[in-house]
Amino acid sequence: SLDFDLVVVGSGFFGLTIAERAASDGHRVIVIDRRDHIGGNAYSHRDPDTGIEVHNYGAHLFHTSNRTVWEYVNRFTSFTSYQHRVHTNHHGVVYPLPINLGTINQFFASAHSPEEARRLIAEQASEFTIADARNLEEKAIALIGRPLYEAFIRDYTAKQWQTDPTELPAEVISRLPVRYTYDSRYFNDAFEGLPVDGYTAWIERMADHPLIEVRLGTDFFDESQPINKAAVVGTLPVVYTGPVDRYFDYAAGPLGWRTLDFTSEVVPVPDFQGTPVMNYADADVPYTRIHEFRHFHPEREEYPKDRTIIMREYSRFAEADDEPYYPVNTPDDRSKLLQYREMQASQPDVLFGGRLGTYQYLDMHMAIGSALTQYANKVAPMLSGSPSA
Ligand code: FAD
Ligand code: NA
Repeated sequence: SLDFDLVVVGSGFFGLTIAERAASDGHRVIVIDRRDHIGGNAYSHRDPDTGIEVHNYGAHLFHTSNRTVWEYVNRFTSFTSYQHRVHTNHHGVVYPLPINLGTINQFFASAHSPEEARRLIAEQASEFTIADARNLEEKAIALIGRPLYEAFIRDYTAKQWQTDPTELPAEVISRLPVRYTYDSRYFNDAFEGLPVDGYTAWIERMADHPLIEVRLGTDFFDESQPINKAAVVGTLPVVYTGPVDRYFDYAAGPLGWRTLDFTSEVVPVPDFQGTPVMNYADADVPYTRIHEFRHFHPEREEYPKDRTIIMREYSRFAEADDEPYYPVNTPDDRSKLLQYREMQASQPDVLFGGRLGTYQYLDMHMAIGSALTQYANKVAPMLSGSPSA
């Protein structure tokens, strides 16, 4: 028989939080992941050449206003005082984001007060009303006016979606934040920072428990290895954080995702762009942004002074073999998702969780918060009959 009380499929933050909670309650947990590393998309590694920490799946910024989550994650890592800020290059000029009074005054070469800027944007936004907007472009103009939309939103959105914004549904954006102050902090959360020793050290500490065994390079649908769907479902409780459509063999059809392509490069200069993230707002630049990883940890004195690592990010629709990153979430996707949710009723011993298991974008703090709640409400009761309970 299998010497475990719980199977966790996927070692991202959702799966590891469940595993850590179950192990500290005395249950024996096996975590499998088909990748050759733990941590899901939050995984990072030190570049062997420069020692700079590279976030393999795109820049990961930790931020939360949830005190329970903040206290929980602080058991495994301490955080730096990093605060995220983003800039964007439009027609060869660099502006601060999210759009704020600094962006507006730089763009219009003006010195508007908050009230004057509000009036200006309200007047420019009167071209369409939000209720009448027939597509993303009209909704964006209704929110921030045509000049700011055309400079900062139109081409960037087209690159993200590989679709002209007049062809995208208005619902893709609910709001476009404009700040009528010079505050350019990207997140508004009460707690923010980056893990002092990096993401992987944090993630490894969550998995470092005598009752947790991690098996990498192990796909839940590979029947040649002992922990697979056919062998364990119905025998042991399972927490599944892989794609929900894959679990049901795509019976209702594949759900749509966007994916990202990353290309990194070591550049022989001390500082490439002076900031961690630079967006490229215009259509003539094929990538959406450049990350420069040294700037996430200005406190790390060991980083080299003569080289830096940059990573360009490109966005496109995912094909079958691509990593699913952001749900496309068309009406067709939503109706497929409802069918998959109905199919889940036939799997009472399986909890579908996390980003892929629920088909929704989750920040790290949301995945961890959701796992803490689901552990208490659903997983702990499933485990109450297990030998070590
Ligand atoms: P994941 O981290 O995706 O983990 C799921 C795991 O399941 C993966 O390791 C996968 O290999 C495994 N798996 C899937 N199928 C199988 C199978 N059949 N068998 C075995 N294993 C399987 N969050 C933030 O808070 N801040 C950010 O700045 C941020 N930036 C992000 C940028 C990008 C590009 C993306 C995609 C996400 C970002 N996130 C960010 C979210 C974060 O990466 C995680 O998605 C989030 O923590 C949710 O974790 P998860 O455990 O649900 O999923
Ligand atoms: Na990010």
